[in-house]
Amino acid sequence: MKNRAPLRAPLRAFRRGPAKWVLTAALATVLAGPALAARQPTPPANEKAFVEALLAKMTLEEKLGQLNQPPAIGNDTGAAAQAGGEDEIRRGEIGSFLGTQGAELTCRLQKIAVEESRLGIPLLYGYDVIHGYRTIFPVPLGEAASFDPVEVQNAARIAAYEAAGYGIHWTYAPMVDISREPRWGRIVEGAGEDPYLGSVLAAARVHGFQGDDLRRDDTLMATVKHFVAYGAAEGGRDYNVADISERTLREIYLPPFEAAVKAGAQSVMASFNEIGGVPMHANADLIEGVLRKEWGFDGVLVSDYTGVEELMKHGIAGTKADAGVAGLKAGVDIDMVSRIYVRDVAAAVRDGRLKQSYVDESVRRVLRAKYRLGLFEDPYRYCDVEREKARTLTPENRAAARSMARKSLVLLDNDGTLPLSKKIKTLAVIGPLANLQRAMLGNWAGAGRDEDTVTPLAGIQAAVGDKVKVVYVEGTTLEGGETTGIAEAVKLAKQADAVLLFLGEHPDMSAEARNRTSLDLPGAQQALAEAVAKVGKPTAAVLLNGRPLSIGPLRKQVPAILEAWFPGVEGGNAIADVVFGDFNPSGKLPVTFPRNVGQVPIYYNHKNTGRPPREEERYTSKYIDVPWTPEYVFGHGLSYTRFKYSDLKLAQPRIGTQGKQQVSVTVTNSGQRAGDEVVQLYVRDDVASITRPVRSLRGFQRVSLQPGESKTVNFTLGFDDLSFYNAAMKKVVEPGSFTVFAGGDSSAALEAKFDVAAP
Ligand code: BGC
Repeated sequence: MKNRAPLRAPLRAFRRGPAKWVLTAALATVLAGPALAARQPTPPANEKAFVEALLAKMTLEEKLGQLNQPPAIGNDTGAAAQAGGEDEIRRGEIGSFLGTQGAELTCRLQKIAVEESRLGIPLLYGYDVIHGYRTIFPVPLGEAASFDPVEVQNAARIAAYEAAGYGIHWTYAPMVDISREPRWGRIVEGAGEDPYLGSVLAAARVHGFQGDDLRRDDTLMATVKHFVAYGAAEGGRDYNVADISERTLREIYLPPFEAAVKAGAQSVMASFNEIGGVPMHANADLIEGVLRKEWGFDGVLVSDYTGVEELMKHGIAGTKADAGVAGLKAGVDIDMVSRIYVRDVAAAVRDGRLKQSYVDESVRRVLRAKYRLGLFEDPYRYCDVEREKARTLTPENRAAARSMARKSLVLLDNDGTLPLSKKIKTLAVIGPLANLQRAMLGNWAGAGRDEDTVTPLAGIQAAVGDKVKVVYVEGTTLEGGETTGIAEAVKLAKQADAVLLFLGEHPDMSAEARNRTSLDLPGAQQALAEAVAKVGKPTAAVLLNGRPLSIGPLRKQVPAILEAWFPGVEGGNAIADVVFGDFNPSGKLPVTFPRNVGQVPIYYNHKNTGRPPREEERYTSKYIDVPWTPEYVFGHGLSYTRFKYSDLKLAQPRIGTQGKQQVSVTVTNSGQRAGDEVVQLYVRDDVASITRPVRSLRGFQRVSLQPGESKTVNFTLGFDDLSFYNAAMKKVVEPGSFTVFAGGDSSAALEAKFDVAAP
């Protein structure tokens, strides 16, 4: 977004009528610089000159107002709060809002900011548009299972299109926190455990939200969050300490942020955690050092909710003013909810505890964001109630949500029970998640509504019409161990030709502050599954959940299991599509599924250790009570057809340290149905000066194959794929042997070797 072209569209602005004139005239008076005055009412073409001229007119209080982001007013806090908020806007004490939305409301407040505050600086409206706004898509972990950046980008695109219709300018997404910690509830909000997949999808989401022009009325400014290592919370307890090395930070947690910044993300959010004793809201080394200096990020950095105030609880600030000073010194530009910048920092500037230049720098970034969004050009661009309606939950948006949901489903196991035939007479649908609308939405569901959703029961009924009799019972509750309904479930199973179980977690068991110490199916669901499976009918289970679950016991009872996450408004239709074979599943796990919680952390790209695990050898790195391997590996996912891999070829036996290696592999559909396969490429640096993971994902491609068809898939490996940080933390490719692995999951056995020659 640097070096933007001069702003276009002044002519359009002329045609917009009086409101525009009021704005431009007001700004023109304020911006008395001759160059700008000469261009009235044409929007200023030079971002820097515009921002500097405006900054020069601002009082310290107005500057701090721009850095203040209170929570929503007017949506749900009532008239009194609204009136108070309006006065704050008039006085220039609010720069942006968290959660205020709706074309009518946002525009009414915008008008106050533009026409009644001294400088007329427009407001910025931010909100958590995470996996859809009204048309809810699968939760991000589910979207990641598609391994389909194009589809993921499209989902973000539609979310932006809908949300912008409601006056929102700015989303607090994508959440790109890598996590190897399934106890942590927020693992549902990210792309899983892998930095490469996480980086590809982070960039896709940024492109989807922001499009190629932030000034359009259907794009949103994206926020990469939470910077950084939030997913490394000790014990999986949200907000907890992340005590990790700089190497792990750089190799695992930082890459998706860097990818998102490279993709043009205009905003970043700080995380609640500390790293090595320094809370992220005061972490100048990472914010100013890595993010801004190393990566050249010139966008705006927003605190997390009360993150600035929490510096006091962290114990590094004794007063609110100290917390504000620490935040601004670290480069946290916007104070979300604490109201510390606007209330407590002016005195600190006046008595010399904080140099005014810190405030100015942050204000520049906020004004730049508003400028880049085109708000100085036309602050009323999003003010269209008709458009709001026209964009909401359209058939096209729903179709995209169904397509995304289908690709997010992962077939974990199948003995041939799935797909079910539509020719059976009676189907028993059993389980507490078969008809729970909330579970379609998952958490962070924007403006999603229960009544918009298609549950699995509804989707199945729609798919079979009156050809199959569908009988349904919950059987048990999600929590609490309720077993009285199991007898009824068994009765229905006995009457049926096939059984579908819908098990998993309530959506409120994952997301923020929803951590678990067990990964088992909660309540009496396992008992329900066992009782129903014993009936002996063809039985499959569909799981809805926001984290990896330990489902070893379920696997023993049920031979076909489909992972559906929380699949969005069209989830029930998508599940029916897969269950009856109208869509061949192709999702892959973006995160390892442990056998039990005691294995955590467990992830595919681990180090080898000096005593790599071998079950038959005692003094190796393993357990005495369960195998060291996971229940399902990263990248796992079956299909209704089968894929065979062959002919893994490298273009050259040897390349230079700056060279590129071409890799090709042939994949064949050796089964009876057409299907998609996600071909995965992993790399290992066999011997290096620093220990390297046993393998790391460095490429994937989704290919569609007819029965019997083969395709050759090509990958290029270059510096980014072969390098690592050496002892001096310099990124290098070291000469020596490398191994590549290709296949359908992270245990891919097909391998080939090449050398990197010394320069
Ligand atoms: C969450 C953020 C979110 C913010 C605003 C916080 O509690 O950590 O992810 O963007 O609230 O809703």
